[in-house]
Order: sequence, then structure tokens, then C-alpha cells
Amino acid sequence: MKKEISNSNTLAGSSAEGGSGGLSILAIESSCDETSASICKDGKILSNIIATQKIHEQYGGVVPELASRAHMQNIVPVVQTALQTSDIKLQDIDAIAFTQSPGLIGSLLVGSQFAKSLSLALDKPLIAVHHMQAHVLANLIDDPKPNFPFLCLTVSGGHTQIVQCEAPTQMKVIGETIDDAAGEAFDKSAKLMGLPYPGGPLIDKYAIQGDATRFKFPEPQIPGLNFSFSGLKTSILYFLQNAGTTLVYKEEFRATEEEKQKFINDNLADICASIQHRIVSILLNKLKKAIAETGISNICLAGGVSANSGLRRAFEELGAKNGWGTYIPAFEYCTDNAAMIAITGYYKYLAGQFVDLTVSATARAEW
Ligand code: KG4
Ligand code: ZN
Repeated sequence: MKKEISNSNTLAGSSAEGGSGGLSILAIESSCDETSASICKDGKILSNIIATQKIHEQYGGVVPELASRAHMQNIVPVVQTALQTSDIKLQDIDAIAFTQSPGLIGSLLVGSQFAKSLSLALDKPLIAVHHMQAHVLANLIDDPKPNFPFLCLTVSGGHTQIVQCEAPTQMKVIGETIDDAAGEAFDKSAKLMGLPYPGGPLIDKYAIQGDATRFKFPEPQIPGLNFSFSGLKTSILYFLQNAGTTLVYKEEFRATEEEKQKFINDNLADICASIQHRIVSILLNKLKKAIAETGISNICLAGGVSANSGLRRAFEELGAKNGWGTYIPAFEYCTDNAAMIAITGYYKYLAGQFVDLTVSATARAEW
């Protein structure tokens, strides 16, 4: 289902059968530029409605103030649609889950205040969810589900993490980026080539026709299981400024704006394929290292960048070659969505992890 709810937002979603009885959770996600609501019943997702804010495209990135305003516009119709499509009445909801952190504070406040108001009005328990933990647990929505323990490579626009998950409410970060996230590496590289935001899907699209071995971008040597993408971004910047002649800054190689643009236009597919190849190898080399160190070989992907076709293919091939169990959530559960908040809320409900109305949203949070 996909329908317009205003000029600047697109509403998309899915639904299954509802009805009364069982444990029903209403979940709300509003951490960035997607307003989403989902109903989960006994661990099964009945609806996952997502209003994507189109307004940010023209600014080349998410504008926090505009995101908060759009959440205010979207939240009531999104929650209503989630209830209607799952055939669940508001009074039949057993608990309300919401994204508490991390994210844009103005955006988080809209969802959290809405959830708290509903909890107060309906006198139902409230469950605070960590957005990054929810990305990991998106792998528990559909079958087949990974057995515990598993490792999850979470790759989004704001985060890049390797998470060791022992149980739904027991997980820890064992590696993360020390600068840019993988999604940022895609988006910033795309911006350097003059492509619109978000550039990740466009790099993926052009890369399909390209030769990934044509241009060699450096792989950073970061100790342990941490990642770094800022050096890659810098070398891509110089590479383009030098119209492909060298990856380092050299005034004598500096191309004119026309030469640079011509180089990009003539070689777009190969540049995209080569950038994508390097980002994927940085990610998977660290994942391999994490598997070797932990001995855990059930591996999952999560986050918006797991939509990348090159990453998905390389991840599956790696698993098949080594006999590892590989899991990737359905696309609608990879990018920001409330279904992952709902499934996390379900497991937190079972573990009795509730919060009271004094809870507040926070832009950053410890695990
Ligand atoms: O998880 P997500 O929807 O939002 C955050 O929590 O950040 O991830 C958004 C990120 C953006 O950087 C976007 O460019 C990237 O995911 N992305 C992709 C693809 N689809 C989305 N990156 C590469 N290839 C894709 N196909
Ligand atoms: Zn996210």
C-alpha cells in the first residue's frame, strides 16, 4: 500500500490480520525523517506504516526543524492508519513502545510525547526502545530467524556497528565507526559527484553497470573491530578534483570544474562500482574479524545500507563460502520503521522492561 498524505510526504505500509486477544503493541518511530507506526501482535507484525518526508531532498540532507514539523503533521494519520490496517482498536492495545534514542532530539520528542500521552490516556504500560537495538532485532521479525548468539552488522546513515547479541534484551557493541557511518560514506561520495541526497541508492544503481576493479580506493588500517570512512571520503574528493589522475592532493593535477564533471560523467558507473566495492570490503573484512574473534557464525545485516545490492550479495557469498548462517531483514524493516520498534517492544514487554511517564527522549544514549 502506498498513498500520498500531503504534497511532501509519501505513506507506505503493509498489513496482516488483526482482531482482539493476544498481546498487542503499538510502536512509534520518529528518530529522523521517517514517521512510522506499527502494530505487533504476539510477536507478529500486523502493520508497518511509514511516512517518508520528501521535503529534505532539496536541501541535500535532513533539516532537523523541518523533520520535527513533518512528524507533527504525520503522527496522527500514521498511527490511525496502522490501527485501521491491522484491524486493532486503540483500546485493545496492551502497551505502547516508542523510540527514546538516539536521533534528532526534536524528532524524538514528537514521537515520545505522543507515546507518553497515549500511555496516560489509555492507562497502558510504556516501553522505551533504543533505535540501534531495534535495527538489530529487525532480524527477529520474519522467519527464518537467527539462533542466539548472533553478530549483527548494523549499517545506517548515522551508525556503523558490529553488535554481539546473546538474547533479545542482551546485546553489546563490539565494533563501531570512529568517524563517518557507512551510509554517510555513500551519501557524501555521491554528493562529491553532484548526485542528490540520499546518494546511497544512486551509487548502488550506477554501480550495477560498472567495473569495481577500475579505480583503487584505500582501505583504512584501523585496529580492532572499529571502522573509519573519513579517509576514504578524502581520497574520493582528491580523486575527483584530480579527474581520476591521483588519490592524493597535488596542485599540479588539479582539474578544472569542466574537466572534473566530464570525468565523472564519462566514468560514473566505474567510479560508483569502485567506491561501493571499497565500502563493502571495509565492512565485511571487519565482520570476518569479529567472527574469528568471537567464534559466532550466525551473522545478520541491519540498517538502511543493508539495502545495498553489492553488500547483500557479498554478505551472502561470504556466508555460503564459509558455511555461516546469514540473515537480512525484508527491505521495509532495514530502513527506519516502527515494526522494529514493535518487535523490540514485544521482547521488552516479555522481560518486564517498562518505563514511567518521567522518561524523556535523548539524542544520544548508552547501551
Ligand atoms: O537506516 P536508515 O534508513 O536511516 C538511518 O537511521 O540513518 O539509513 C539511511 C542510509 C542513507 O545513508 C542511505 O543513503 C543508505 O542508508 N542507503 C543505501 C541504500 N539504500 C539506503 N546505501 C547504499 N545503497 C543502497 N541501496
Ligand atoms: Zn535507523
